[in-house]
Amino acid sequence: MKKAATFILLFTTFIASALLINYQRHSPQNELSYDDDQEGLKDQIVFKFSHVVAENTPKGLAANKFAELVNEKSNGKIKIEVFPNGSLYSDIEEFRALKSGQVQMIAPSTSNLGTFSPEWGVLDLPFAFSNYEALQEGLNGKIGEQLLQSLQKDGIQGLAHWSNGFKQITSNKGPIYTPKDIQGQSFRIMQSNVIQSQFDLLKVNAHQDSFNSTYQLIESGKVDGEENTISNIYSKKFYNVQNYLTISNHGYLGYVVMMNQKTWNQQTPKTKQILTEAMEEATAWNNQQAEQINKEQLELIKQNSSIQIHELNNEQRKDWETALLPIYDKLAPTIGEDLVEELKELQRKYHAQAPQ
Ligand code: LMR
Repeated sequence: MKKAATFILLFTTFIASALLINYQRHSPQNELSYDDDQEGLKDQIVFKFSHVVAENTPKGLAANKFAELVNEKSNGKIKIEVFPNGSLYSDIEEFRALKSGQVQMIAPSTSNLGTFSPEWGVLDLPFAFSNYEALQEGLNGKIGEQLLQSLQKDGIQGLAHWSNGFKQITSNKGPIYTPKDIQGQSFRIMQSNVIQSQFDLLKVNAHQDSFNSTYQLIESGKVDGEENTISNIYSKKFYNVQNYLTISNHGYLGYVVMMNQKTWNQQTPKTKQILTEAMEEATAWNNQQAEQINKEQLELIKQNSSIQIHELNNEQRKDWETALLPIYDKLAPTIGEDLVEELKELQRKYHAQAPQ
C-alpha cells in the first residue's frame, strides 16, 4: 500500500514537472524572439561601424540612417552594426582598429586626421566657412573631393563627408566675448595641429584629449573649457558643467566616413553599389538635418540649464577673425597652398555672410 502511494506520488510529480517544462517552453515570455541574424546567416555580411558621439547627434543619426538603408536595400543580407558613444573605441583608438580590421567603418572628426594627413587641416582653419551653404559647396566641390582622394595613399576608402556644424565655446572662467577673454584659460581640444596653433596664438593652454574624456576633464577642473558644436554640447551635457557658452561659429566640425580599402576592395560590385547608394542617401539626409538639430538643441539647452549664453556680434566676430588670421599664412605650406587658395576663393564668394 505504501509502495503504491509512493509510486502515485512520484508519477504525479513527474507528470506535473513535464507539464511545467512544456508550459515554460511555450509561454510567450520564453518564446525565442525572432532574430534576423539567424536568417540566411551564412550569406549575411556584417560591417561594424564605430563612432564616438551620442545617437541623437548629426553623426549618430546619420549612422543609424545608413544602417537602416543598407538593411532595406540588401533585404537584410548586409548588416551595419553601429556602436555609438565610443563604446568600442575612442577617437584616439579607432584608426588603429580600422587599419587592423577590428572595425570596418568609422566616421572620425576630420580634425583628428590632420596628424597623418595634413591637408585635412584646411577644414580646421578659423572661420573657414561662413555658413552652411559655403560649407556644402566646399565639401561637395574640389576641396572635399581632393580630401577624400588623399586618403587612398593611407589605404583608406573615403566614402563621404558628413557635417555636424560650427563650433562654439564653453567655459567656466568668465564669459568670453573677445580673444582677450580666453587668454590664460585651459581648454580641451581635438587632436589637430591647426586647432593647437589657434589656441597657442590665443594664449590658451590647450590639452589634446579624446572626446569621451571631455566631460570628466571639465568636471574635475582639469580644464576650464572646450569648443564644440551645440549637438555635442547638448547630448554630452557639457552645459551641466560649464557656466558660459559663446556662440562664436569660429570653426567647422564634421566627419569623413571611411572604410579600410582592403575591406572595400574585397566587396562584390553589388555590395559596393548598395553601400554607395545608401551612403549617398544618408549623406543628403545628414546635410539637411545637421543645421536643424543644432538649432533645436540650442533651444533645449536654453530650456534645461542656466548656462549664460552670449552670441558674438559682428564687431566681436571681426576681432576673432583678425586675431586668428595669421594661422592661414603660417599653416598654408603644411596644409597645401592650393587647398588654402581654393578655400579663400570660396570665402571671397560668400564674403560677409555670417553663419545662419
Ligand atoms: C570632439 O572630439 O570634440 C568631436 O570630434 C567629437 C565628434 O566626433 O563629434
